[in-house]
This record gives sequence, C-alpha cells and structure tokens, in this order.
Amino acid sequence: MQIKKVGVLGCGLMGSGIAQVSAVAGYDVTVLEQEQKFLDKGFAGIDKSLAKFAEKGTLKEPVEKVRGRLKGVTTPQALADCDIIVEAIIENVEVKKKMFSELDTLIKKEAIFASNTSSISITEVAASTRRPDRFVGLHFFNPVPLMKLVEVVRTIATADDVYESAYAFAKKLGKVPVRTSDKPGFIVNRLLVPYMLDAIRAYEEGVGSIPDIDNAMKLGCGYPMGPFTLLDFVGLDTTYYITQVMFEEFRERRFASPPLLKRLVMAGWYGRKSGKGFYDYADPNNPVPGKY
Ligand code: 3HC
Repeated sequence: MQIKKVGVLGCGLMGSGIAQVSAVAGYDVTVLEQEQKFLDKGFAGIDKSLAKFAEKGTLKEPVEKVRGRLKGVTTPQALADCDIIVEAIIENVEVKKKMFSELDTLIKKEAIFASNTSSISITEVAASTRRPDRFVGLHFFNPVPLMKLVEVVRTIATADDVYESAYAFAKKLGKVPVRTSDKPGFIVNRLLVPYMLDAIRAYEEGVGSIPDIDNAMKLGCGYPMGPFTLLDFVGLDTTYYITQVMFEEFRERRFASPPLLKRLVMAGWYGRKSGKGFYDYADPNNPVPGKY
C-alpha cells in the first residue's frame, strides 16, 4: 500500500525523532500528544536537530519546508486519514492497548499500526485492535535522526503485504531495516541488555571503576560509548523495565537486573535525563562518575 500520511503518537525523545525523520523523508506528519506543552518541547528538539543538519548542509530542503510538513495535535480525530501510525508513548502495556483500541475505531481500516516499543509484546498490543494483521513493530534507536537502524517486527498475525510495506517505509526514511520477530528485546536489546547488565555486575564485583570499564569497551572494542555512558543515555528506568520484561519471559540470570541498577532506579537516578545515574551530570559537559 502507498504511505503518504504519517501519524506519530507521542512527542517525546523517540516520537519527535520519528516525526522528524518522516518529515525529512517527504511525508506529511501529524503528531499526537496529550497536551500542547509536550508538543512544544518535542518540536523545539526537532528545530534544534534540523538546524544542526542544515548547518552541516545535509538537509536537501530548507528547514521551513520540512517543518511545514509537521503538525502537532491534541485530539486523536486529527489522525483519521493517516496511512501509518507509529506509536512512541510510555512503555506500559495497558496504556498502549487502551490507546490503540480507541484509535482502531477512529482511523481508516487500511492504515498500518506500528509500535516503537523496545520490549512490550507487539502481539499483545495488536490483539487489542480489530486489525492484528495490520500491526507491526518499528523499533527505532536513540538518537533517531542519527541512528541508521530500524528493527521491523513481525508477529504471528502480521500479514505479509503489511510487513513489506512497513519495511519499505523504514527504508524510505533513510534507515537500514532489519527483519525480526516478536520476542522480547528483538535483536538489539536481546544482545545489548545482557552486555550492559554484565558491565554493572563487573563493577559490583570490583573488576574496574565506572570510567575504566567505559574506556575499556570504548577504546578496546571501538564502541561509540562505554556501557555506563550508554546506560545513562538510554535511561536506567527504561533499561530496568526492559530487564523485567525479558526476565519474566526467559527466566535467565543474564536478563535479571543487578541490585545496583534497581537501587539507582529506586533512588530516582535515571541517568542523563534526571541529572544523575552512573555519572553525575551537574555539569553536562563534564560528567563525574559515581562511586557506589
Ligand atoms: N540531531 C542532529 N545532530 C545531532 C543530534 C541530533 N539529535 N545529536 C547529536 N548530533 C550531532 C552533534 O551535534 C555532533 O555534531 P558535530 O560533529 O558537528 O559536533 C555529532 O552529531 C556527533 O555528536 P557528539 O559529538 O555529541 O557525540 P558522538 O560523536 O559520540 O555521537 C552518538 C553521538 C551518535 C549518539 C554516538 O555516541 C553513538 O552512536 N552512541 C551510541 C548510541 C546508541 O547505542 N544508541 C542506541 C541505544 S539503544 C536504544 O535506543 C534502544 C532502546 O530500545 C533502549
């Protein structure tokens, strides 16, 4: 099917990034949020990011042209004629199910529904609608405008043509799609999460300090960020939530949260976004490693 109009649910870090790359790719994009203030915050991030690309000369059109294709709304009716809906709201299965079952009655029957969830079962959310065959996962990576990968997730109910349309859509966004199925963590988090949890365990066992473990993996393996910098970047609350879903499914220690991760989350230290995690970001340009 031909995708022309894109609807994005949520204008947080991921939703605004997805909206941005969709508009840059030439789609008309409508972003739904609960309140105008969330739209304002998300669009401010888009403006900043687009300005960076324009400065580097990597934007094919003037910023205003791209911006003109982006619209923010607070009522779901405004999404009725979208061809694809990409959801990037809170990682809570009940909230996602409620949202999709409501939209199911409002949005045209042929539209594809997609979730950007990193860990919630796409099958379970899809089953809350009358179109589980038109439901996929489209898992983007943070920061969306820079990260090339999209995991395109098929459930046992996804129709072949819907899956191929979603795959082609990810390509049109300038991303590199990979094919995967609806198992917790898909490909990336299935491998990345146990690695990050092992880094925490290594720290707990005194193998090295936080900056030494980070530098070891950065300089020894050529990773762009060490595991603790990445954990703080992804968000410790998000990572902790993913571990719970993965452990629940697989019951294997490698997916279980180490005690320190849980305690940092209980303390409200979620990483960069809360100003403190494995590092303290009082001065964001000079993070100070914690001693736990
Ligand atoms: N828009 C436009 N430009 C941006 C930008 C954005 N949102 N963010 C950063 N940039 C620009 C910077 O301004 C900078 O430009 P410059 O070279 O002109 O100064 C350039 O990109 C590079 O940025 P930085 O200098 O700040 O830092 P890095 O060179 O380290 O690159 C990075 C940043 C691309 C984030 C890199 O560190 C990286 O790849 N890190 C790993 C990220 C990662 O692994 N993400 C996946 C997390 S897992 C996930 O998302 C899944 C979820 O389910 C948990």
